Amino acid sequence: MGLGVQSDEKLLVRALKGEAVERAPFWLMRQAGRYLPEYREIRKEVPDFLSLCYSPDLAVEVTLQPIRRFGMDAAILFSDILVVPDALGVKVAFQQGEGPVLEPIRTPQALDQLSLGRLHDHLSPVYATLSRLRAALPPETALIGFAGAPWTLAAYVVEGGGSKDFAAARTLARREPELFGRLIDLLSDAIVAFLDRQVQAGAEVLQLFDSWAGALPPDQLERWSIAPVRRIIAELKARHPNVPVIHFPRGVGLSLEHVARAVGAAGIGLDTAVPMDEAVRVLPPDLCLQGNLDPVDLVAGGAPMLERVAALRQATKGRPWIFNLGHGVLQQTDPGEVQRLSDELRRVPA
Ligand code: CP3
Repeated sequence: MGLGVQSDEKLLVRALKGEAVERAPFWLMRQAGRYLPEYREIRKEVPDFLSLCYSPDLAVEVTLQPIRRFGMDAAILFSDILVVPDALGVKVAFQQGEGPVLEPIRTPQALDQLSLGRLHDHLSPVYATLSRLRAALPPETALIGFAGAPWTLAAYVVEGGGSKDFAAARTLARREPELFGRLIDLLSDAIVAFLDRQVQAGAEVLQLFDSWAGALPPDQLERWSIAPVRRIIAELKARHPNVPVIHFPRGVGLSLEHVARAVGAAGIGLDTAVPMDEAVRVLPPDLCLQGNLDPVDLVAGGAPMLERVAALRQATKGRPWIFNLGHGVLQQTDPGEVQRLSDELRRVPA
């Protein structure tokens, strides 16, 4: 690829390829959602949250809502990580105000009921959403596809919902590693197939959410998080060498450097607790960093928020960096503060 072609690429993609960019690209995890009144309006039209994920017209609309208001450098597909277990045959429901509830999978018999057979049929509305988005987005806006990482998905599937420590999932992994490994392998195969099709439908960057990586002790992190993620990224790279993958291993503490060096991603999402100056010091210089303003700083807003942004800019100077939050936008966030943040981030620093 010639130089001219490279500089025509979108800001987000260029940062992920380690190119020097005129300003850091930005997007926000959970940039579409309940903090936006126009999202809450659309949400009223559907009986349940998953129907929103499976209605291309509505999913396209809510993906575009934050882009219209704030002009982020990337749109992230509106969907959820739990559409993958849903497509494999796990019963998934979102109860109002209570988060996800799943039929727990804890036995060989239950696992045998799951299959890849209907995966693409079930997820075809997601692919339709992506191809429509690709046509609808402004030419400078990148389109991000995503999936949950195998461990995080397995944690919800075994637990049967959210949890503060995922003790049931981690107990099964210790007691019956063969069974748990079969679940991880099935999820990994589904994730590769799903992300491959997302790229075919128009996704230009992929993010893998390992939101519960931090619940695992180091040996288990290696086996159930790092090894499967490394395989997924290698398979995606073989199929789509030009599509960068961002890995978000939330809460892994001192394992961060090892994780970053082991999985082979183009970018790493840093959670709120990671000190940016330490990340810059220990992580490989060609790895694009993403993060990590505290979502609460965005709720609190005002000048102190902008000071935190300036500190992140300072710490990441000379490094490939994508501005993001350290976790998703909180529901109580004032859209006016997101506007303030976006205005600051679109300004090219002197
Ligand atoms: O970032 C985006 O704007 C894209 C959309 C997106 C959603 N969920 C929409 C959503 C993405 C990328 C996700 C990922 C996701 N989903 C993760 C990984 C990221 C993270 O937060 O750690 C996880 C763990 C889930 C599972 C999930 N989905 C939970 C636990 C919940 C309930 C908690 C809550 O906030 O309600 C959801 C629901 C969900 N996913 C909502 C949205 C907008 C709210 C549903 C509603 O409108 O009623």
